[in-house]
Amino acid sequence: MADDGGADDAADADANAETVVRRDRFAGGPARGFMSSLAADRRILAADLAVDRAHTVMLAERDVIADDEAAEILAALDDVEAAGHDALPDGEDVHEAIESAVVDRVGPVGGKMHTARSRNDEVAACIRLRYRADLLDAAEATLALREALLDAAADHADTVLPGFTHRQYAQPTTVGHFLSSYAGAVERDTARLLAAVDRTNVSPLGGAAFAGTTFDIDRERVADLLGFDGVVENATDAASARDFLVEGTAALATLTATLSGLSTDLIEHAKDGYFAPSDDYASTSSIMPQKVNPDTLELARAVAGDVAGDLAGLLTTLKGLPRAYNRDLQRATPHAWDAVDDAREATEVVAGAVATGAWDAEACAADADAGLSTATGVADALAAAGVPFRTAHELVAEAAAAAPANADAETLAANLDAAAQEVLGESIHKHVSREELSTALDPAGSVAARGSRGGPAPEAVADSLARMTETHDDHRTAVADRREALSAAEADLSDAVAEYV
Ligand code: ARG
Repeated sequence: MADDGGADDAADADANAETVVRRDRFAGGPARGFMSSLAADRRILAADLAVDRAHTVMLAERDVIADDEAAEILAALDDVEAAGHDALPDGEDVHEAIESAVVDRVGPVGGKMHTARSRNDEVAACIRLRYRADLLDAAEATLALREALLDAAADHADTVLPGFTHRQYAQPTTVGHFLSSYAGAVERDTARLLAAVDRTNVSPLGGAAFAGTTFDIDRERVADLLGFDGVVENATDAASARDFLVEGTAALATLTATLSGLSTDLIEHAKDGYFAPSDDYASTSSIMPQKVNPDTLELARAVAGDVAGDLAGLLTTLKGLPRAYNRDLQRATPHAWDAVDDAREATEVVAGAVATGAWDAEACAADADAGLSTATGVADALAAAGVPFRTAHELVAEAAAAAPANADAETLAANLDAAAQEVLGESIHKHVSREELSTALDPAGSVAARGSRGGPAPEAVADSLARMTETHDDHRTAVADRREALSAAEADLSDAVAEYV
């Protein structure tokens, strides 16, 4: 509250304002702005109000404060909520500002709200409350991405596509098989995010500064009212721990690394004419009007750098911190917010690019046997006929070395026969019929033959997609269950508050 005796310049009065927590001794000074997290705390305003309400209800239920005192505090919190973040008094952070605002409204009794807690367990609770919701949103985005991948994969289960290793033509595959490879990776990303949600969702409240409290509090009740699955056992751990932010950010960094690989593949496939991003996900050149550039995918790829940076920032801030609260922690939190926002957005954008992009089956097919990429299939056919695989490999390598990279199937067949004479001393057709050979050399035949579990044959892809769809549905249920539990807790909290106001 401003000591406004005689000061008519409101700005001056504000800058030197003492607050409920700091009083005049620590009210101002040149480092005030540096110390404040109030602006960044906008993100946890709603969380802090929920935490204040649950704590106040519990204090009243345990007779630590009187019911009418709780009623006054809870009514003031409603007012503070209605007024919004911009109406908060100046303060070192949102916790202090809300407390000041409550005291401004109801007088000293407002100060009872902070009984049996500290800002240390309070801020940790606020971060966990908000972060679990943000992680659920990110997990939801991964579900949409998987849906886009699985749908496009099903549509293109037999669209033959050149497959690459070392960015060299390697073996023919299909668009469906290629896309479901990423669906598999994103499946693990979702699982990691859900695990991070669950480890985030435990209550540090009641840990107080680090050493618990003399009051007869009920930590479990507060946890229930806030939708937490349990409590962080040790009071010092409760106030200190930020490993849940590391875990979530690491999961997001892994997700964005997945996105960056997918983006690069799609960018390359766009360059080769196999894939075309829709206009909504493309841009053009300011000078070269003919260009359709996959800018969204390039930006999504870059997000992996930002999120990896956030993870490094977090770990570097946390490394070597002693136990209990240190103000360093204030600068750790924004890394987690940035990472979850950027990763979620990039995931949504890549999902949109996949869902709306078009695959050119003809362009894909035209290159599907480029670089003699069906040669492995011939080696397999020879091995199936009893020729040791290593001998077959040598034979095919010789034929391939003698053929130009863009050789057609006929030239390659002739080369193979010549190589067989050399390596085996007999015609290749002693082992593989003309028909078998032409099937092996045909990209669609080559793909169809690779029906091992997880392989590119359309039926194998269909089986994989069925399994992946099941897991996708399970994950969707897992996200919905968690959201439901959180809204049920929200309803419980407002019922509990309604007992007083
Ligand atoms: N603004 C602080 C943060 O974000 C809140 C906790 C302050 N606690 C303290 N003991 N100074 O971490």
